[in-house]
Amino acid sequence: MSHYIIRGGNRLEGALKIHGAKNAALPILAAAAICGDSVIRNCPNLTDISVAMEILRHLGCGALRQGDAIVTTQGEAGDCRIPDQLMGAMRSSIVFLGGMVARHGCAELALPGGCELGARPIDLHLAALERMGARITETGGRLLCSAPEGLHGARIDLSFPSVGATENTLIAAVTAQGETVLTGAAREPEILDLIDFLRACGARIAIGLDGVIRVEGVKRLQGTEHRVIPDRIAAGTYLCAAAMTGGDLLAKEVVPGHLASSLSVLAQAGCRVVTGPDWVRLTAPRRLAGFGTVKTMPYPGFPTDMQSVMMAAATVADGPTVFVENIFESRYRHVPELRKLGAKIITEGRAAVVTGVEELTGANLLCTDLRGGAAVVLGALAARGESTVTGLDHIDRGYDDLEGNLSRLGADMKRVRNG
Ligand code: EPZ
Repeated sequence: MSHYIIRGGNRLEGALKIHGAKNAALPILAAAAICGDSVIRNCPNLTDISVAMEILRHLGCGALRQGDAIVTTQGEAGDCRIPDQLMGAMRSSIVFLGGMVARHGCAELALPGGCELGARPIDLHLAALERMGARITETGGRLLCSAPEGLHGARIDLSFPSVGATENTLIAAVTAQGETVLTGAAREPEILDLIDFLRACGARIAIGLDGVIRVEGVKRLQGTEHRVIPDRIAAGTYLCAAAMTGGDLLAKEVVPGHLASSLSVLAQAGCRVVTGPDWVRLTAPRRLAGFGTVKTMPYPGFPTDMQSVMMAAATVADGPTVFVENIFESRYRHVPELRKLGAKIITEGRAAVVTGVEELTGANLLCTDLRGGAAVVLGALAARGESTVTGLDHIDRGYDDLEGNLSRLGADMKRVRNG
């Protein structure tokens, strides 16, 4: 267990290389279970990634970290089960399901854990696998899946563009017998990165102009070398930190297009935003203007994962901001924590109204979930005086060396390890 001590008020300034995307690396590691030996570069050093590596080892694969790369190897038949403790550690453990059924013809696992963001069903994942021939039963919080005759292609229409269900379907479909036609799929950059990885391994995947994905199953997939895309949410978090401290940040090794919706909100708030082929430079005004209305939407809309950190920035803006959370039913758990700093936020169902204040004041804060935790840290960085932040296990799931990076940009913060 550890906590941060943050003395807020410093202007954040400088350049920062953004790490690889957790939410791209995780499904790629899940897909590696059905591909040949692979080298996956630009994998951030996060607890969620370590959990994914452990799951791979349970499934009979090798997974070894070498610097920023993870080397995966195919072993002999592994286990059909993922231990409950690994399933409980993160929600995205569910993206291993499609690959497990494809590889072993069976899977047994507990329902997944992860951040508490309200009800997070997996009905779309299960319905897709069932259409592909899996038989699934759920008893006492455990899922039993089998496909003794293997999976076959199917037409799958997702009623909501679920990121995880799209990933699971793709991973299951690439070695299924025949063609899978997937409509209503998610279009997040992390999905395209997974598709790039699978294609490099020999998968036959076509994306139509209408967004319909067609997968022609192949017998075997080889291995490949792949570089994971940059983390657009980590980049956005650091940009928000600079924006709300009157700072100036050069975010390097990013894909500016992936950040477009967040950059346009920050520009509307008065930041000067300049982009290059793989960088973004943000220069903040002395005080941000209110952001208007920010609605979370599937990509290319404004990402739900940015809502909390953008809200932290809005708390010190000169003017109001309205947030509408359309993706998750309960993603405002950071609000009571931001209020402890003096933020003025009212929530009503899926909406949150922020009235910017001139100054926040340090407080004892708790990270309630991964992105909510990042928002709390940002609030503390902008606040006058000292804050302590506990619950850092959430931060460690998604930000590689958050305190090191922010300190290098001028933040006065340190991690204190208890006991
Ligand atoms: C992914 O979660 C991300 N996680 C989340 O990031 C992100 O917030 C989310 O996509 C939306 O962009 C990873 O990629 C590892 P969804 P996922 O399935 O796949 C409902 C972070 O902070 N739904 O697109 O779980 C669901 O309840 C994390 O890095 C169903 O109803 O998200 C939610 O309301 C947090 N049935 C909505 O869809 C299903 O079967 C979006 O979920 C599946 C989802």
